[in-house]
Amino acid sequence: MQTRVAGPAEMHTFAQDFIEKLDRAADSATVVGLSGELGAGKTTFAQAAAKALGVTDTVNSPTFVIEKIYSLEGSPPAGGWQRLVHIDAYRLKNGDELKHLGWDELLADPSNLILVEWPEHVEGAIPQNAHRIRIEIGEGEHRTVSSSRAQRSDPE
Ligand SMILES: Nc1ncnc2c1ncn2[C@@H]1O[C@H](COP(=O)(O)OP(=O)(O)OP(=O)(O)O)[C@@H](O)[C@H]1O
Ligand SMILES: [Mg+2]
Repeated sequence: MQTRVAGPAEMHTFAQDFIEKLDRAADSATVVGLSGELGAGKTTFAQAAAKALGVTDTVNSPTFVIEKIYSLEGSPPAGGWQRLVHIDAYRLKNGDELKHLGWDELLADPSNLILVEWPEHVEGAIPQNAHRIRIEIGEGEHRTVSSSRAQRSDPE
């Protein structure tokens, strides 16, 4: 699905709507990959998502720390997640580098909602059932946002 957003405020609205409609994965963390070039608005999306989830802390770009974890326990969202994990994989070279950040444990826990900027840097670590957001820069503050919801995974 493609949506055109005219500026940061509309990006916030888009992200809030996306989070409200997001299904929680049953057997693992819910993962959302955020793609788009430098300055496209991935962190802006994550900030809006955090707000929609009731996070009151300031959400900064985790480019240098790679990973930030926010507790949602004070304000459990409709999706039922207990933690928001915001990862910026820009400085990582491959999926193995995520393992050093406790990735397997984060991924195994259905109470985690994980947003990953630059998922293509760690593609090997991104599960098949991840949701995808791609932000393309247009003129001025215009962005085209493509979103694909992961299929509900059928039991094998
Ligand atoms: N429609 C829009 N949606 C999102 N951000 C916008 C939009 N229009 C302008 N901006 C501005 O563009 C910038 C986007 O920065 P942001 O840090 O969110 O990008 P990013 O994709 O996370 O970049 P990086 O790859 O460096 O992490 C912000 O300054 C934001 O205000
Ligand atoms: Mg960013």
